Formats: sequence, C-alpha cells, structure tokens
Amino acid sequence: MGEATIMSTATGGGGATVVVPVVVLPLVAILVMTYLFLKRSTTNVRKGDANFPPGYSGWPLVGEFFEFMKPFPSYTPGTYMTKRIQKFGKIFTTNLLGKKMIVSADAELTRLMLTNEMKTFETEWPEHYKKLMGESSILILNGEEHRLLRNSVLNFFSFARLESHFLKDANEIATGIMSSWREGKVISALGASETYTLDFALKNVMGMRPGEPEVEQFRHDYHEFREGLLFALPINFPGTLYNKSLKARGKVQKVIRRIYDERRKIEGCRGPRGDDYIGWTMSGTNLTRDMICDLMQGALFASEETTSRAISLIMFFLEGSPKALEHLREEHLKVRMPRDKDGWSMLSWEGYKQLQFTQCVTNESLRLGNITRFLVKKALADVTFKGYLITKGTPVVASFASAHFDPSLFKDPESFDPWRWQTSSGILKTNNFFPFSGGPRLCPGAELARVEIAVFLHHLLLNFDYKLADDDKPTAFPVINFPKGYPIKVTPRE
Ligand SMILES: *[C@@H]1O[C@H](CO)[C@@H](O)[C@H](O)[C@H]1NC(C)=O
Ligand SMILES: *[C@@H]1O[C@H](CO)[C@@H](O)[C@H](O)[C@H]1NC(C)=O
Ligand SMILES: *[C@@H]1O[C@H](CO)[C@@H](O)[C@H](O)[C@H]1NC(C)=O
Ligand SMILES: *[C@@H]1O[C@H](CO)[C@@H](O)[C@H](O)[C@H]1NC(C)=O
Repeated sequence: MGEATIMSTATGGGGATVVVPVVVLPLVAILVMTYLFLKRSTTNVRKGDANFPPGYSGWPLVGEFFEFMKPFPSYTPGTYMTKRIQKFGKIFTTNLLGKKMIVSADAELTRLMLTNEMKTFETEWPEHYKKLMGESSILILNGEEHRLLRNSVLNFFSFARLESHFLKDANEIATGIMSSWREGKVISALGASETYTLDFALKNVMGMRPGEPEVEQFRHDYHEFREGLLFALPINFPGTLYNKSLKARGKVQKVIRRIYDERRKIEGCRGPRGDDYIGWTMSGTNLTRDMICDLMQGALFASEETTSRAISLIMFFLEGSPKALEHLREEHLKVRMPRDKDGWSMLSWEGYKQLQFTQCVTNESLRLGNITRFLVKKALADVTFKGYLITKGTPVVASFASAHFDPSLFKDPESFDPWRWQTSSGILKTNNFFPFSGGPRLCPGAELARVEIAVFLHHLLLNFDYKLADDDKPTAFPVINFPKGYPIKVTPRE
C-alpha cells in the first residue's frame, strides 16, 4: 500500500477538531479522469482474510476518497456512511487513496480506541498534517511526550486561572464585540464567535492585543494557516492551498519565535512570569524552544476553532427551539449582576457555577452538532473485535456521530432535547458521549471551552434577541461549516 495519505480526518487531544481536506483541486480531478475508463472495483477487500471487515475497494489509486469527501448536509449521516452501514454493518473496510482503512460506526470500538491509547491504538496523522502542525505539536506526539505537553496545558488552563483570569477576559472580549451590535444589524454568528475565541486565545496564549497592526497581520497569516489545516490536500505547488498554508505557518512561527526570543532577552534565562501561556511554559517547564513554539500554534488552533463552531451551533439549535432559548434566558437572568458603567452585567464565577441548564444545552448541542466527527487511530497490534480482525498497522476511522446518534444510547437521538441531560432516563449510557474526545487525549481545554460558551451566551441572551437573517444550515465538509456564516439579525432588548 502506498504512503499517499491524503485523507486526514482526525481529532487531537488539544481539542482540535476533525480535519479533512475538501477543496477538490483540479489536479486531483485530472488524476481521477485518467482513471475513469477503468472499471470500478466493488470486490471485498482482502477476501482471503476470513475475519477482515468487508467493504469496497473503490477506484484504482483514489479508492473511495471522493465518496468519503463529498460534502453533505451535516444533519444527515451522509450517503457514504448510510450505504455502507446498510450493506456491511457498523464496521467496514474502505480504501482512501490507496490506503486501506477500517471505518467504525460502532460506539464500543470508538470507546476502546479512546481509552486504550498506547496499548492498542495510537493517534495517527498524515504526513502533510505534521508539516503544518510541526513535528513536536501536542496533536502529533504520542505517549510520554504527549503526556508532558498535555500536563502543561492542563496546569496553565487550570480551574484556578479560569476563575481568576479567563472569566474576566471572556466577559471583556464578548462585550467588546457586542457593543457594536445595533438594532437590525446583520451579523455573521460564525464570524463573531471566531473573533471572540481567537481574540481570547491571542491574549492568553501569547499576550497579543487585538487591534494593533502587527496583531492584525498575524491574525491574517493565522487564518491562512488554519484554512490549510482544515481543507488542504497535500499538493505542494505554488498556488495550492497547502502551499499557501505552509507559507503562512512559516510566518506564524516567525512571530511566535520572535516573541519567545524577546521574552528570553528581557527576562533572562529564568524566563518571564507566567501571565500568558508562552511565558508560563518558558518559566515553568523545560520544554525546548521548538516544542514551545509548536505548542503555542497548536494551542491557538485548538482553543479557537472548535469553541467558535460550538457557539454558532448552539445559536443555530436555539433558534429552532424557542422553548429552550427562553428557559436558558431565565437561567441567565437569575444570575445577572448589577450593570457596570458601560451597561453590561458581567458573568461572575458564582453565577457561572449555577448555570445548570446552560451545560445541558451545551452538551446537547455538542452531541447533535458533530463538531468532531471522526478520529483516526492506528492499531498497534492485531486486535480482534466482535469477530473482526483488525491487523496491526491498519488505521481505523471511528465516527463519534454513530455513538451520539445511537438510539440504544440516546432516546429519540435526532431531536434537540437539552432537558434529556437533566434526567438520566433520556441518556441511556453517558459513557458513550465524547464531545471532547476521551481517555488520555480528553481535551485539556474542555472546561475553558464551557466557560467561554457560557459567557458568550450570557451577554447574547440578556442583551439581544436574534433571528436568522438568511437561511443557512450547517454542512459537513466533513468539517462543520455554515456556508453563509450563519447570518443573524440582532435587536437589543429593552
Ligand atoms: C450530526 O450527524 C447526525 C448523524 O450523522 C445527524 O443526524 C445530525 O443531524 C447531525 N447534526 C448536525 C448539526 O448537522
Ligand atoms: C511552494 O511550492 C514551491 C514549488 O513547488 C516550492 O518551491 C515551495 O517550497 C513551496 N512552499 C512551501 C512553503 O513549501
Ligand atoms: C525536565 O527536567 C526534568 C528534571 O530535571 C526531567 O526529568 C524532564 O525529563 C525534563 N523534561 C524535558 C521535556 O526536557
Ligand atoms: C455534560 O457532559 C459531560 C461529559 O462531557 C458530563 O460530565 C456532564 O455531567 C454533562 N452535563 C450535564 C448537565 O449533563
């Protein structure tokens, strides 16, 4: 089998989301055309192995890549999954660009893959992804090295800092953004949540103040890098998304390295104080410069990307469920603080802790939203599971959605029902809920993400009514996206 690993759905411990290249470049199209005359193969892969899961091998060279990649409305499982599950069951084989893989829609296998890390399954990343993230990125490393980095994230983004720093920052940044919202203004909900989470990350990861020209240039380069991470195929020619994204990674790294070096120079070899994540890792750990700089880039991505999609999805679900929205607003009204001089009521830590229903809405939206759709891991040894043999080295693509929409785990799984989280009867087995991945790769920023979500909702619901300005539904590319950015029209309350 070739090493042509273009496929790249995966999720990382840092909470990074599903990453799948989607832009079907003309070059690849030509490649496919070349093979159009060849007969499509639909034989079982490796028929000889009695226990190897059945499946299609697809087209020569590309395998089933284009079926797998085809965008579909995110509120359906997509024909790729549906058809194959019907024919082969929940575990089947596929071929993506010459690489044989197993796809699992089986919740139990997904859980096994998450919790048995380093014993049976190891996180697997395609080569081009490693080049974008950096070899020593937390998302790429496994085992002991991963544990070290993850601990540094956990320690910095700890509960103590949530209460003392992050809550205040989130309040300030959210109200800063909403202070420009006027009667009847149409706003992209996705755009606003992206600004919110990126501004928060820039400040707390590297002490950057949005608004300064240099920071705005950095934001631009970072966006180019991120596009590639989400959508690029690994085709490195001038003009391709991957090429642009690699260039942007270079620029982003240059700035991070400069910040690192300046801090070293000013603060001496003991390193700076730990007000932001870069300062904290420089003074509090003995990670190398390369590791720290890759870690910062990964931290930016992990903290802004998934959280912003989560916020827009919550707004989408609430728009379709006025009852949940009203219930949520009542909960936030109960913890409302006196207004400050600018007229905002900041969410306090005591208030945050009382927001039970907000957590239900968050969980339900994460379950229904498919922000992290897949996870890819490689079997480290031959694994036998439910009568199937997964041979050593085979990548397994596990679908979280199949667990989150399993009617034997969640009653009436397709409906948005935040109340199901209030009673255990609506959730038949909670250990099949993986919104932040799981096991040793459980997202270390999960609690921070919940705080950022709650703060944004607090200011949105207490100060505005909103309605959809133009029809827009989430699409899976398979990265969840709103094609129009989810445009909403806002009306200030009172
Ligand atoms: C997530 O996926 C499931 C099944 O694949 C689907 O039923 C659900 O509507 C999706 N959610 C969104 C927001 O598209
Ligand atoms: C972009 O493509 C050109 C031509 O293949 C190559 O020389 C250059 O190194 C690429 N840029 C990056 C950042 O890889
Ligand atoms: C940091 O230092 C400690 C003790 O000095 C050592 O055990 C550890 O391996 C070092 N970590 C790294 C990443 O170099
Ligand atoms: C939400 O999900 C998390 C698991 O990620 C769980 O620990 C928590 O209890 C859930 N919250 C509610 C209110 O059900």
